[in-house]
Amino acid sequence: MKQTLKRLKAEKLKFQRVSVSAFQLLTTRLADAEETLRAIRTGEVDTVMVAGKEGSQVFTLEGAEHAYRVLIESMNEGALTLTADKVILYANQCFARMVKCPLEQVMGSSFRRFLSAEDRATLRPLLKRAAKSGSKIQVLLHVGDGSKMPAQISIRPLAMNGFNRATIGLVVTDMTEARRNEEQLRALTHRVVQVQEAERGRVALELHDNITQLLCAILVRSQTLANKLSTRDGPAKREAMKLREMLGQTAEEVERISRNLRPSVLDELGLVPALRATCTEFANRTGVSLKLACKPLTARLPAEGELALYRILQNALENVEKHARARHVTVCLRQRAFVQLVIKDDGIGFDPDHHAARRKGKGGLGLLSMRERATYVGGDFKIKSVRGAGTEIEVLIPLPPSATAAN
Ligand SMILES: Nc1ncnc2c1ncn2[C@@H]1O[C@H](COP(=O)(O)OP(=O)(O)O)[C@@H](O)[C@H]1O
Ligand SMILES: [Mg+2]
Repeated sequence: MKQTLKRLKAEKLKFQRVSVSAFQLLTTRLADAEETLRAIRTGEVDTVMVAGKEGSQVFTLEGAEHAYRVLIESMNEGALTLTADKVILYANQCFARMVKCPLEQVMGSSFRRFLSAEDRATLRPLLKRAAKSGSKIQVLLHVGDGSKMPAQISIRPLAMNGFNRATIGLVVTDMTEARRNEEQLRALTHRVVQVQEAERGRVALELHDNITQLLCAILVRSQTLANKLSTRDGPAKREAMKLREMLGQTAEEVERISRNLRPSVLDELGLVPALRATCTEFANRTGVSLKLACKPLTARLPAEGELALYRILQNALENVEKHARARHVTVCLRQRAFVQLVIKDDGIGFDPDHHAARRKGKGGLGLLSMRERATYVGGDFKIKSVRGAGTEIEVLIPLPPSATAAN
């Protein structure tokens, strides 16, 4: 019995010794790691060893770049360097704060852990390509607390130096604020489009109910007057006839404007005839030749989609008339997995990027509202324009699921 107790005590002592030494070992390693991180950040160390599949690799950090590192630490953007295997060699404090993860856990880990499977797949070829040139990508960073943060990653190849393998530099920008602003701008543009539509409806109604009615009454009276004047009144009768004719034209013009302002024209005519009428009216009025290739659709788009196409065509033709100095326009409507509308002119063209950058709250709403109308119904809006070579607008509007299933 005494013997057994003695043995147990000895084993307990041995165990305590082992755990104490393991604990001491871990503490020492942790202190070492912290000291290394501090030294890297302050620029005292210029070489890091990373254990990988192919054994340890040495990466130099070049002590002479201390000033750059201090600069990077003070940036408001995340800055990282990665190995070709996406192991994080270096990250600044800002990145650690972004991903809500202690810096010591960030460095040495894989950058992949901060990305979704989808973003990883998108990033892979970009990182490969980035070995030659730079590129940018929008991702959702997986943050330590389980949330996701919209970010833009700029990828830059870093020069190979000494015995290093190629390393890649990333600058990560938090896009939360930018996204919020974009959403607010989109909501605002949508509101503007809605208000514009309501206002058009109101004006159309007033024109139709008041002005057109009045014009019709005057038209009838001028006809009566012309009838009452006998041929002996020669010039007066001719004048009355001319007046009647001009009033007829005015009534037609007011009716045309009112019809164009009214979305109900789509219900009255249907999408294709409404687009056709818009094109014919444009060609007759402006004298610009317009070729229309409009295939009837087998399925009907939801009302908002039809209105988007109708208004985009009107807006695009208005721009052709106002700005393009075009001689020929082609309008093409086709149905594929979605409805595609293409409006192309051979006018003077312009630089859409330059225009967007320059507008700063000034300028028309045409292009902005066209894009908004298309995106609001889940569609896409593209504009291609080259100075001197014309403009092409392409709009894609998705068909409702029931229509695509039937195809
Ligand atoms: N088809 C086109 N041909 C040439 N320039 C165009 C065309 N469409 C648009 N633009 C240019 O883009 C600008 C913005 O158009 P838009 O947003 O519709 O505003 P607005 O027509 O009121 O100026 C125009 O001022 C013009 O410079
Ligand atoms: Mg315009």
